[in-house]
Amino acid sequence: MLMKGVIFSGMRPTGRLHIGNYFGALTNWVKLQNEYTCYYGVVDWHALTTGYSETTMVKDNIKEMVIDWLSAGIDPDKCNLLIQSKVPEHAELHLLLSMITPVAWLERNPVLKEQVRDLDLKENMGYGLLGYPVLMASDILIYKSNAVPVGEDQSPHIELAREIGRRFNYFYENVFPIPDLILSKTPKIPGIDGKKMSKSLKNDINLSDKPEDIRNKVLSMITDPEKIRLSDPGHPEVCTVFKYHEIFNQKEVSSIESDCKKAKLGCVACKKRLAEILIDSFHSFREKRKYYEENTHIVWDILMEGSKRARKVAEKTLEEVRQAMKIDYE
Ligand code: TRP
Repeated sequence: MLMKGVIFSGMRPTGRLHIGNYFGALTNWVKLQNEYTCYYGVVDWHALTTGYSETTMVKDNIKEMVIDWLSAGIDPDKCNLLIQSKVPEHAELHLLLSMITPVAWLERNPVLKEQVRDLDLKENMGYGLLGYPVLMASDILIYKSNAVPVGEDQSPHIELAREIGRRFNYFYENVFPIPDLILSKTPKIPGIDGKKMSKSLKNDINLSDKPEDIRNKVLSMITDPEKIRLSDPGHPEVCTVFKYHEIFNQKEVSSIESDCKKAKLGCVACKKRLAEILIDSFHSFREKRKYYEENTHIVWDILMEGSKRARKVAEKTLEEVRQAMKIDYE
């Protein structure tokens, strides 16, 4: 099949994924694997930029996350699944790019400012965290990617990767294509408390949750505070459960909307219906997950194979980079 170009995208190994990650990134990745030559990376070094003091979980988090990728439909025969640290060329390119990247660009990075504030880093901000976008640029550029699918929050990083690539091409030779940003147009899924879904807020629904966990979580969702009894007319536009019906239950969503407004549908029944729909949507996911859980060696084999394939490409790009910079002494 004729491919449209090369894609790189990555996720920090945070362990099991929630349904927000699924709609934010994974569904897009699954679709793109049929259209582009894809490199999907477990960016374990990026995880260390903030999580450097507690690293015992990294390996397990990699396994759990990649099991989720595979169970969600990422096909290792169609794309290259790699671990960043297994392709050490990323680090060499990161070093070289760090030479040409003005510190001022990195200090301006709004994502960094937010992290320093949210994680209260101040004096503890590592040198590695400052260089986060440079490492990201090397992830992307080393495969000569034409496009990078990410969520909106990452767009400042992609802009920096483009700037760094342009700067390299300008100083030396035209080695890197300047990658386009592919924003996922997927709906934002709120957490069960209505806030942004996040693992740390403990308001998430994991792809791998057992049916009874899904039921309990859905039953604890926030609904319209003015609808206390079945006979109270509801306001679906403020209800978290309704948002979920919009995303997962397109077939019934309009009847649910009108029944809720007309006080014909109570919140408990509405939640029970949603829980069953959610449980159903991830049925085949759970089946596949069971297989990989019982065969974790397959997961590691896939990652080692993918990293090896990726490394061949990365090595070639680095040779071109060294030549362009006139530091290939042979
Ligand atoms: N920073 C990205 C995130 O947190 C992960 C990432 C690392 C990435 N390197 C990348 C994404 C390269 C796209 C391309 O989501």
